[in-house]
Order: sequence, then structure tokens, then C-alpha cells
Amino acid sequence: MENFITLGQYECAFPSKVKPEVYAYVTGGSASELSLRRNRAALERIVVEQRIGMDVRAIDLTTAFLDMPLPAPFGVCPMGGMPQVWPRGDVEMARGATVGGLLGVANSGGPLHERIEVASGPLMYQLYNYGDRDWAAARVEEIQSAGYKAITVTVDTGVQSRRDVHLEALYRAGGGQLPAPRPVQPGSDPMYLSMITWEYVRFLRDLIKVPFGLKGVMHPDDARACLDCGLDFIWISNHGGRQLDSGRATIDALPRVAAAVGNRAPIIVDGGFRRGTDIIKGLALGATVVAIGRPYMWGLAHAGAEGAAAISRLLEAELRVDMALAGQTSVRGITRDAVDYVNY
Ligand SMILES: Cc1cc2nc3c(=O)[nH]c(=O)nc-3n(C[C@H](O)[C@H](O)[C@H](O)COP(=O)(O)O)c2cc1C
Repeated sequence: MENFITLGQYECAFPSKVKPEVYAYVTGGSASELSLRRNRAALERIVVEQRIGMDVRAIDLTTAFLDMPLPAPFGVCPMGGMPQVWPRGDVEMARGATVGGLLGVANSGGPLHERIEVASGPLMYQLYNYGDRDWAAARVEEIQSAGYKAITVTVDTGVQSRRDVHLEALYRAGGGQLPAPRPVQPGSDPMYLSMITWEYVRFLRDLIKVPFGLKGVMHPDDARACLDCGLDFIWISNHGGRQLDSGRATIDALPRVAAAVGNRAPIIVDGGFRRGTDIIKGLALGATVVAIGRPYMWGLAHAGAEGAAAISRLLEAELRVDMALAGQTSVRGITRDAVDYVNY
């Protein structure tokens, strides 16, 4: 399968590659999709400053997250549903998206060891806490001994949101009926997702020996509480607009959270980042790594691991060009004054 040459081509082809209900699951948000749209709208109100007078022949994309050196400051988000997009999609994604040593994040469930074996870059594990303390202890032990470099526990899914677009597509696919709910994973109980208190986060902190952060932090007070619990990093996310609707755009949560965190912990941000310029915005406003979700699904649907790798290469090429045009020669040198807010 030939690779496309732009991200837009992967996006346009996506609906023809998957079933309508899978398309709705991947692209949709919750309720009125305000959070989903705001992620993009807020990024579009930020400008990248055009600067001149620099030698921009060499652009240094390298950075480090915790103690992991990275070839570029972005990586793939954890996502469920990859096997519906491509056979063994979760393994293919780990293989493809990490091309060149990029950071990958493996979603909860799916094969534990195989993804580590095929990845070319460091892999973080995203854990849904689907059980009691004994369950968590056993699971963390498995994840750590499999070789995952960090663990993030997703906490913006205390309950499952109402995803109208997906529900409607399921209803149509079922001929006017919703399918019976299926168990998420054998031996797992989503009730435990509703029970993650700060006290429980401290329990997890004691349990987890690799770097650990919560995914789904949007408020500066919650970021401070994460640091009080001794967490190693903060992941700003509204689940790609798939959980609380009518929420803040993640790029607007970023400066507030970054101010609360200072340089005490690195920050990952995700939600609507699609372009090299978007990545510059995330870095300028305080993130160390920008995580990208749906575009990798478009790549996976096109050509499995090769399609996911193509997305990574496209983003890297775009970032390089955009940094040069913005007079930014090194990722580590991008600061707040690289961007500004406008009201077009
Ligand atoms: C199809 C799909 C499945 C997802 N599944 C998970 C998941 O299992 N765990 C999780 O923490 N986040 C999940 N997310 C949220 C992503 O990790 C990420 O926060 C979001 O996709 C980022 O926004 P973007 O898609 O606009 O880049 C999922 C997102 C999508 C699109």
C-alpha cells in the first residue's frame, strides 16, 4: 500500500477503511462535542511568531522526557479499538508509531509483552484501574516486569460519558437496537474507575516503581495534588473531548497547570494537536511532550504499522519545517514568546 503525502489524505480516506460504528467511535466526542471542537478551536486562536535572522539549516528536535532521550517531542496516545481498525492493531501501532525511537503509550489491555518486543522507542503503559488493590498490585508488577518505562493511570473516566455520535452509530448498526454491553476485559470491573481518590493515588504511588503520572489532569489544583502525592509527571487531557463535554480546551488548561507545576514535573498534553505548528504551541506553553491520538488511527487504518510510522514521519517533517520558519532551531529552546493569542 502506497503511503499518502499529507495528513489530510489519511483523514479523508479513514471513513472508507472502517465500519461506520468504528468511524464514529474513533472520531466522535461526547454529548454535543463542545470539548472536542474546543480543543481545535483554541489551538487555532494561538499564533506562532514568525522570526527571521537565524541560521535554520540545522533544527534539533531532540528532547528528554524524565530520563528518556527522545528524537522528537511527540508520541502516540493510548487508544482502545485499534484491533477494529487493523488486524492486531495495538501491536502494529506500537511497532509503527515509535519509528526512530519516539515515545509510545500502550493502552490498557492488549498484549503486554509483544508491544515491548516490537517497539523501537520507549513505551509507557496506560492503566485503567479495573480492580481492587490486589488486582492493581498484580497488574503493576506484570507491567513493570514486561519492561514498560513509565505508567500513566487514566482518571478522566470515573464514569463512561454519553457519546451520542457513537451511540447513534451503534443503534443504526444494530438495526434500531443497542448491543448488549460487553465486559471490558476478563476479570475487570469498571466500577473501580469511579473509586480513584487521592488516597488511592497515594497507594498507587507506593506501588509503582517506574515513573508514574495521572492522565486527565485539567485543573491547577489537581496538578498540585498530583505533586503532593509524589507523582513524576502530569498528563493534561480531556480524553480527546470524549469524556466531560462543555469543558476547557486542553491547550487552555496547559498554561494554568504549567504555572502550578513550575519545573517540578514534566507535562504531557494531548487533544486536537494535528500539525507541527500545534506541537510548537504545546511546547511554548509548557509541555515537554505533545501526544497525538486520532491521526495515528487514520494511519493505522491505511497501512497498519507502516501507516502509523508514516504519521510519525509526517509530523516530524512538519515540525522541522515549522520550527525553521518560526526561527526556532531547538525544541529545548522553545519558550513562551514563540506564540501569542489572537482573536480572529
Ligand atoms: C478511539 C480512541 C480511543 C481512546 N481510548 C483511550 C484509552 O483506552 N485510554 C486512554 O487513556 N485514552 C484513550 N483515548 C484518549 C486518547 O488517549 C487521547 O487523550 C485523545 O485521543 C487525544 O486527542 P486527539 O485524538 O484529538 O489527538 C482514546 C481516544 C480515541 C480517539
